[in-house]
Amino acid sequence: MALLFAQRLQVPVVMTDLDQARVDKGLAYAHAEIDKMAAKGRVNGDKANRLKGLITGSVTKEAFADADFVIEAVFEDMKVKQQVFAEVEQVVREDCVLATNTSSLSVTEMASGLKHPERVVGFHFFNPVAVMPLLEIVRAEQTDDPTLATAFVVGKSLKKSSVLVKDAPAFVVNRLLTRFLGEVTTAYDEGTPFEVADRALDPLGLPMSPFTLLQLVGPAVAYHVSETMHEAYPDRFYVSANLKKIVEAGKTAIWTYDSGTPEIDPEVAELFEQGDAPLSEEQVRDRALTALAQETQLMLDEGVVAEAQDIDLCMLLGAGWPFHLGGITPYLDRSGVSEKVNGKRFLPAGVASLP
Ligand SMILES: NC(=O)c1ccc[n+]([C@@H]2O[C@H](COP(=O)([O-])OP(=O)(O)OC[C@H]3O[C@@H](n4cnc5c(N)ncnc54)[C@H](O)[C@@H]3O)[C@@H](O)[C@H]2O)c1
Repeated sequence: MALLFAQRLQVPVVMTDLDQARVDKGLAYAHAEIDKMAAKGRVNGDKANRLKGLITGSVTKEAFADADFVIEAVFEDMKVKQQVFAEVEQVVREDCVLATNTSSLSVTEMASGLKHPERVVGFHFFNPVAVMPLLEIVRAEQTDDPTLATAFVVGKSLKKSSVLVKDAPAFVVNRLLTRFLGEVTTAYDEGTPFEVADRALDPLGLPMSPFTLLQLVGPAVAYHVSETMHEAYPDRFYVSANLKKIVEAGKTAIWTYDSGTPEIDPEVAELFEQGDAPLSEEQVRDRALTALAQETQLMLDEGVVAEAQDIDLCMLLGAGWPFHLGGITPYLDRSGVSEKVNGKRFLPAGVASLP
């Protein structure tokens, strides 16, 4: 994020962290990325030096005294984030915007203890930040218009595509991904063989299989987010018992590719327990798509975004939903899932090349 801000906005960026070693690690990472860009000829030596000069580090938040825009990306924990914003508010100017990169927490709650909650806005990037074009901009209950407008201008200057989202748990992309991963992991927990559950979504042409995504996100983070979502919507978001077991055992990998085909890591397999109600690939796919159609409709009903195309854009630019399928809602319409689940289509005939 620091590098993106320095590169696109050409402004000084200061990173803080808990101690000097962490600050140095962050700075070294940003500087190494700049060296890589220089080695590839994407920036010349002079530009590389200037970029490096723009990014500095500090262990104290006093460094934010003259900042226009502060973005927090500390641990995904409400108390820690509230504490960090309280510290930052002591230091910054009245007109400084406070942005949060939270993936799932309530921005309204995060801002609630501040003197000026109206200057807090959600600013949610997708990993890898340099590559993924989406930015979910979250309007919290008290976010005022100048703050929101500033967030959109900053997003545009960073060359991201910004989508306005309501302050609802996990916003758009993570809500849909968590719902769909919950269905696939539960199908596994109930007895579906690993390869069947993992292959079931292949016909959609997603960038990676569900268990690959789970491994990339990291079991601990995926588990944490599924718990947050289960708390918010207990009937629809599951917490996988097997995922819980491997997180408690401290495992970071779920499957290996040692044999040439993906299979569950033998140490993880020992921990796993399965029921005796296996599904076929088609049944897993049907279950996951049904869940996606239901959740998408609920997000529209709740006003998380203004219209179905916002959800399409989010999934295309933030989750790698295949462009050739024209977005998630045209796909659900074309395949008949929307009608089956919600009794209606998301988009009228003719939109997004729908027949
Ligand atoms: N990892 C992702 O793919 C991703 C994507 C989008 C958003 N996010 C969000 O970004 C945030 C950070 O996620 P992460 O994966 O980088 O976490 P992380 O644990 O890797 O990094 C958090 C950093 O915050 C620092 N920190 C903790 N308390 C601090 C404090 N009081 N003051 C200053 N620094 C402090 C930690 O030392 C650490 O360097 C979370 O809110 C997460 O939801 C992460």
